Amino acid sequence: MALRDAPPADVSLPPADELTELPSGWDRRRASDGWLDRWVAAVSDLTRLTNTHPMMDAVIDEQVGRRIRIGDHWLSDFASCNYLGLDFDPDVIAAVPEYIAKWGTHPSWSRLLGSPKPYIDIEEQMTELLGCEDVLLLATITHIHTSVIPVLAGEGTIFLDSRAHKTIYDGAMLAAGRGANVVRFRHDDHEHLEQLLREHTGSPRIIAMDGVNSMTGNAPDVAKFQHLAAEYDALLYIDDAHGFGVIGERSDDETSDYGSRGNSIMRHLDVSYDNVVLVAGFSKAYSSLLAFLALPTRLKEALKVLAPPYLFSGPSPVASLATTLAGLEVNRTRGDLYRRDLWEKTHRVLGALDELDIWTPNVSGYPIIEIPLADHDEIDDVGRFLFEHGIYVTMAAYPLVPKHEVGFRVQVTAANTDDEITHLIDVLTSVRERFRLRARDLTV
Ligand SMILES: Cc1ncc(COP(=O)(O)O)c(C=O)c1O
Repeated sequence: MALRDAPPADVSLPPADELTELPSGWDRRRASDGWLDRWVAAVSDLTRLTNTHPMMDAVIDEQVGRRIRIGDHWLSDFASCNYLGLDFDPDVIAAVPEYIAKWGTHPSWSRLLGSPKPYIDIEEQMTELLGCEDVLLLATITHIHTSVIPVLAGEGTIFLDSRAHKTIYDGAMLAAGRGANVVRFRHDDHEHLEQLLREHTGSPRIIAMDGVNSMTGNAPDVAKFQHLAAEYDALLYIDDAHGFGVIGERSDDETSDYGSRGNSIMRHLDVSYDNVVLVAGFSKAYSSLLAFLALPTRLKEALKVLAPPYLFSGPSPVASLATTLAGLEVNRTRGDLYRRDLWEKTHRVLGALDELDIWTPNVSGYPIIEIPLADHDEIDDVGRFLFEHGIYVTMAAYPLVPKHEVGFRVQVTAANTDDEITHLIDVLTSVRERFRLRARDLTV
């Protein structure tokens, strides 16, 4: 089914099964009755948890390192994506006042009108770090997906990984509204993708997928997808929000198997940028509100007049430009030590899970560790147990993950202390005794 014939997409994430077509979602004939209830019903599990659960939509009253206070309850935070712990790095914090004194808090030009010089400095440093042809900065990855995917796809075809992040999916939906055809391939299945590439021959063709997956913590074999892109004259569009800053190029003196320099999945797996646009951001490992595309210069120049966030959107706050530049400096001087620390802490948790016989889909060793439950209806109780025992995690409810993967996600950062990791392992030991977790022999 060509997506242009489909009704508006459901708000829910597409199920991560074997679909190659998109869910029809919403019945036009009844769109006028209870429209909001219908949207809410589409994500009912998530709505219920958001309304009732202490670990959803929480107000954080205070934070000391990775200890957070909600009301009178202190917890160890394992829901942060600040993987390198730069949010509390003294050098990063100290960089902010000087930039604000110079540029004010927020220049408020769109980038097309004018970019403060730090933008150009970051783009140059990122081009060198990534080893790509050029870099374009925009405020968020969501901005990038929703504005760039429709430009790249035109009236051609988007080959969408069935587990692509919701923000990629939304970019594809916008592209569909402008005439692109969207077909889905089974998650991480290059053979299925190749079959679809043979069937859908019109151009342009975009293969859209994640790098390090935000829920499983695993990475695709990007070389296979890049080869297919080159062979079938397609463009591989890849979102490595969770890999950038954490994994990087391999070297003889690397401090861990995350590699060196944190320059993302393409460099980590030594895959060429030919036929590739890499997207990632600073809002995770670099604790700053900014995102980027690694792309050919010709495309960068075109996007300056084609991507609405470059033309119209407010820029990233000056504080974020400052923390990005300071973060890049810390990355050059101490980044590999932080990555080593992150690797050790993550492997302590993974080793404990192994000993406790707790299954996680994580086979990469990267710091995203999802723990699925045997019965998805127990998510509420398990979450409360974690909360009451002082552990703050991301609740992985449906439709954030497929039903068989509902559980909770632990994220380790370099700023978590060893004591916090010990605390986490103690509480996971109790969770294992009290609740039924998913057995390791089920397929992902
Ligand atoms: C894979 C992925 N892409 C994009 C985003 C959104 O990033 P941003 O906040 O820069 O829009 C996230 C955030 O959760 C993500 O995990």
